[in-house]
Amino acid sequence: MAVLFLQILAVIAYYSHATKLPLVVNTWPFVDANKEAAVVLTEGGSALDAVEKGCTICEVEQCDGSVGYGGSPDENGETTLDAMIMDGETHDVGSVGCLRRVKSAISVARSVMEHTTHTLLVGELATKFAMNMGFTVENLQTNKSNDRSVLKSHVNRENHDTIGMVVIDGAGKIACGTTTNGMNHKIPGRVGDSPIAGAGCYVEKGVGGAAATGDGDIMMRFLPAYRVVQSMRAGMSPEDAAKEALSQISSYYPQYSGALIAVHVNGSYGKKDSVLKDRNHKGTKTTLPTRLLALVFPPTAKSCIGTFDWKVGLNWKNSLQ
Ligand code: GLY
Repeated sequence: MAVLFLQILAVIAYYSHATKLPLVVNTWPFVDANKEAAVVLTEGGSALDAVEKGCTICEVEQCDGSVGYGGSPDENGETTLDAMIMDGETHDVGSVGCLRRVKSAISVARSVMEHTTHTLLVGELATKFAMNMGFTVENLQTNKSNDRSVLKSHVNRENHDTIGMVVIDGAGKIACGTTTNGMNHKIPGRVGDSPIAGAGCYVEKGVGGAAATGDGDIMMRFLPAYRVVQSMRAGMSPEDAAKEALSQISSYYPQYSGALIAVHVNGSYGKKDSVLKDRNHKGTKTTLPTRLLALVFPPTAKSCIGTFDWKVGLNWKNSLQ
């Protein structure tokens, strides 16, 4: 089966008025994550609560093998986790990088944000912090991650993904989060873009948010999520802001693989997808998977799923009630 590459893909949900809030958007078709985040919102939880819950679901489900325990083992066969959470109201961030032997990376990140004055804890000492906070410390290896034959260092959908989530609650408060096990066969100690504020995700109150998926070693050099939000602050549409951020990266790294979601804080959806290029590793065009973009709970209580397919573009369905 051909290895799929996302070369440059900007997927946008553009919201123009607040009647469509609250909303949840993530970078892949991780439906359960969005559903659970939306349940938190409908039960009165905050955007931060929703982000934490949605990302936790992916950690438990080991979404695509690229989130949670047992995926993307490093050269020593160990899975380590990167995660961050950001509160758009307070501009506070908590992150963990190369977290060892703790499954719930997003919750540890939230603990960093809420129980310390720091932003990012890494490695074994992040594990010690988690232990002190009462998190269970356990082996993250599985039969799959122990299989040395999976330790191949190639970039594809399975090898370079993350869940990045942006949530806006009913009051317009915005938060984002990421969680991932990074890159398969990474050099031990490698930390990707996901726990870096402005790279993995970024939110700003009154403006909007963005989150990234893809080759973190490249993306973190450009802080694309930060760039998108600043462009929206300057008046650019989410679509144009994401396109512009991705174009900058590809101007330096034409073979880079990645994607951004961008959401304006104001509300309603309506803009189109933007696919600039796609190709597989031989340089030929290939099919990209459909992905879930957003689950929206308007005041009518009707929910919508937006899917993106590279052939048909953005498509909104009232398929969930
Ligand atoms: N974007 C996930 C990573 O590169 O670690």
